[in-house]
Amino acid sequence: SDTAYKYIAVSEPRPGVGQVTLNRPKSLNALSTPLITELNAALRTLDASPSIGAIVLTGSPKAFAAGADIKEMAPLTFSEAYTTSFIESWSDLTTAVKKPLLAAVSGYALGGGCELALMCDLIYTTTDAQFGQPEIKLGTIPGAGGSQRLTRAVGKARAMELILTGNFFSGEEAARWGVAARCYATHEELMEETLKTAEKIAGYSKVAVMAAKEVVNKSQDLALRDGVEFERRVFHSLFGSNDQKVGMKAFAEKQKPEWTHS
Ligand code: HXC
Repeated sequence: SDTAYKYIAVSEPRPGVGQVTLNRPKSLNALSTPLITELNAALRTLDASPSIGAIVLTGSPKAFAAGADIKEMAPLTFSEAYTTSFIESWSDLTTAVKKPLLAAVSGYALGGGCELALMCDLIYTTTDAQFGQPEIKLGTIPGAGGSQRLTRAVGKARAMELILTGNFFSGEEAARWGVAARCYATHEELMEETLKTAEKIAGYSKVAVMAAKEVVNKSQDLALRDGVEFERRVFHSLFGSNDQKVGMKAFAEKQKPEWTHS
């Protein structure tokens, strides 16, 4: 565990798997600017580390994150928010990190916490986790992509209801509605299965994994025709990788591929 950080802990719990644990327990992992700054630094380090193939982001059994730090935001003025690009650095997560980012969500994932999970590539959760966009109750609205990513995930009808009411939804619902890929009965089971999946992904060619993540995420930005064309270009480009030769040769020879990550 890396002691250079105050609000997060970084570890390598499995071969090839980096884990970032949000660690501000007294405020249920409220996402203050200093916490986000540390998170971005840790993710950049893991992304640049040749030994890491996948990254897991998690919180505590009680809270993934209960939102942006309300006490920090309360006195902010429009001109301060605007001129300091408040919240903009959160998007580093989606633009700077090229390795797959898996969110393991237990407990509260509210407001910015829900949005942080939605920025990850894959969400696993617990049945009784509590997701929600309760900003409306504070006199404001989602500000880190919630109205867009949640709507793409659950459809307009459910997203509109959730964002206008501030109602929470459970991990079980998150899995049923396609926000999360799976839900598990306990935090322990969640962590075990998330790490197992991350380790599996980290065992593949980094070139292919990063390309796969990139093309799936493009589906959220592009029209179908453009997305399919983008996928085909990237697919063609992978014939220029060594690992495509390694993988297909190993299949033909009934051997285990020895990835070169090139
Ligand atoms: C700052 C927070 C916080 C938050 C909890 N705390 N959430 N501090 N920002 N988002 C603090 C509490 O003030 C309290 O501190 C301590 O954590 C424990 O919380 P309690 O409320 O006492 O716990 P509990 O009764 O169990 O209730 C849990 C809870 C509630 C339902 C999650 O804390 C809650 O409603 N939190 C706010 C959720 C929310 O509105 N999130 C959206 C924020 S807006 P003390 O010092 O009193 O012990 C947002 C905007 C995003 O995220 C836009 C761009 C990113």
